[in-house]
Amino acid sequence: MIKIKELTKKFGDHLVLDKVEFSIQDREFLVILGSSGAGKSTLLRCLNGLVQPTSGQITLNGMLYNKKNIREIRRKVGFIFQQYQVIGNLSVLQNVLLGRLGTKSFWNIFFTKEERVRAEEAIEMVGLVDKIYTRVDQLSGGQKQRVGIARAVLQNPQVILADEPVASLDPVTSEEILSLLKRINEENGTTIVCNLHQLDYAKKYGERIVGLRYGRIQYDGAASDLGVSDVERIYGNHLSMQPNTGKTVKPSSTIQVLTT
Ligand SMILES: Nc1ncnc2c1ncn2[C@@H]1O[C@H](COP(=O)(O)OP(=O)(O)OP(=O)(O)O)[C@@H](O)[C@H]1O
Ligand SMILES: [Mg+2]
Repeated sequence: MIKIKELTKKFGDHLVLDKVEFSIQDREFLVILGSSGAGKSTLLRCLNGLVQPTSGQITLNGMLYNKKNIREIRRKVGFIFQQYQVIGNLSVLQNVLLGRLGTKSFWNIFFTKEERVRAEEAIEMVGLVDKIYTRVDQLSGGQKQRVGIARAVLQNPQVILADEPVASLDPVTSEEILSLLKRINEENGTTIVCNLHQLDYAKKYGERIVGLRYGRIQYDGAASDLGVSDVERIYGNHLSMQPNTGKTVKPSSTIQVLTT
């Protein structure tokens, strides 16, 4: 469905993605793993057309990512952010309807009755029916993330890209949000590509894992096959020199616990 070929991104001299190459299958739940700075967000942003690759090629169902196609590609690719990207002084319903803005023209931003019904269905799916008219700034972090998910669902995309959707949430809420994404994947057949920092969630919810280190793929395979040596290749298990910045980085304690 999505084919990524020799995808390279440089910010100035800084090589962030280095000839990344893999395909994303229809209806797959793919998790991208990697240390901070590995290039995960940059990769997702390329897949949404928010970041322009330095070289390489991406296609969605054979359609090349370029200026001409980008509006159509964005309609088929939903995005969920770590920082919920909701508008606090609007209601849940209004925030979800914003997901349809991409289909409107400047002189017609009114929503149809059908759009409203579909927005209500999306809100029901994420479990926020009783908050439909509540201002979003009165919601918890987990509820705000549900609003973001409902907005992506209303767009009825083929793919939802989620950039660390549970980074600021407690463990119980995190699992609720990931279960919700899994349900959308299974019931709606939406392909999910999700950046995560938690290995245990990656193995529990992901079917497939792509592991990045310094913008290069270190692992691409079934989540159930990811072993300790793969994890070490993705994160490193010793003090190491980061080639891109020259900074010494120490692996986080979470990783050390999981690899021992
Ligand atoms: N717009 C930008 N301009 C310059 N450098 C950037 C830009 N966006 C990202 N980078 C750099 O690219 C590298 C990869 O960043 P990216 O956000 O993709 O990493 P990440 O894997 O998502 O990390 P994290 O887990 O911390 O979110 C970082 O060193 C970052 O500083
Ligand atoms: Mg990131």
